Amino acid sequence: MLMATAPAAPPIDFAGIRRPRPGVRERLLKLAWLCSGRSPGVDALLTRKLPGLKHLPARNPADCIPDFAATEMVIRRCPVGIWSTPLIDVVVLLKCALGFRSRRILEIGSYLGHTARMLAENTDAETRITTLDEFPGHGAAYRGTPVAQKIDRRIGKVSLEHFQPDEKYDLIFVDADHRFESVVNDTRVAMSLLAENGVLVWHDYQQENHFHGLNGVPEALKIFSRSIPIISLEGTYLAVHSRFPGWETARFADRKMPPAPADPWGNQSLRG
Ligand SMILES: C[S@@+](CC[C@H](N)C(=O)[O-])C[C@H]1O[C@@H](n2cnc3c(N)ncnc32)[C@H](O)[C@@H]1O
Repeated sequence: MLMATAPAAPPIDFAGIRRPRPGVRERLLKLAWLCSGRSPGVDALLTRKLPGLKHLPARNPADCIPDFAATEMVIRRCPVGIWSTPLIDVVVLLKCALGFRSRRILEIGSYLGHTARMLAENTDAETRITTLDEFPGHGAAYRGTPVAQKIDRRIGKVSLEHFQPDEKYDLIFVDADHRFESVVNDTRVAMSLLAENGVLVWHDYQQENHFHGLNGVPEALKIFSRSIPIISLEGTYLAVHSRFPGWETARFADRKMPPAPADPWGNQSLRG
């Protein structure tokens, strides 16, 4: 008997991706932002007037990451530095590494290295973390510490040049330059390196600073999500594409979610 199967989504056509042209509403809002003297506060206010930027299905991380409520970690030093990933996002990323049992982890854009350090501190001795950043001094947070031996620190702009042809990763965290063209480039590199059962996580999907033009993550993910399932994790700035057996994003992206309870005491959403 022939079984009906869902048509496979076309692979992402990275070469054909262009930044979408802003519509009339967006251009008018940008004018208002420019008139404000490029105020970050006005940017945040006006970005909220573009609901199309938050297009991914938002899901509770506890529903999409294995053993979410059971995995344990130790946080000794908190991330510092203006570009470091906020602690709530690091905690959820660590829960991805533990829940998906990722042994080969790649961080694209590593900065001071607090996230890499906490990944190294909270995973077993066999786990290896590779970090790539164009800033030669990146990784100060773990360099000279015992966990540095678990971390392979690479320097350079994001490209496949820094990797062997057969190199694969179970968990990849994309967090380098957030401009649209860079997100496209970095995701192309990440997709080439993602293991068959791997999980890809992007940072800064939920930023509220659209008009300064440096964050093209939401627009880029909107285009990728036509080819691969991607969800945003509630309470965080993270977006995820998982191929992990039993925890594939497609299962969660399509599911009808119950309405949030009206009673705030009963709301179980993660507080970012
Ligand atoms: C937001 S920070 C990364 C924060 C880090 N993931 C963490 O969790 O703390 C962005 C980093 O990306 C690096 N970066 C920006 N553009 C890059 C590029 N084209 N290639 C490599 N690294 C880049 C910057 O040097 C910076 O350290």
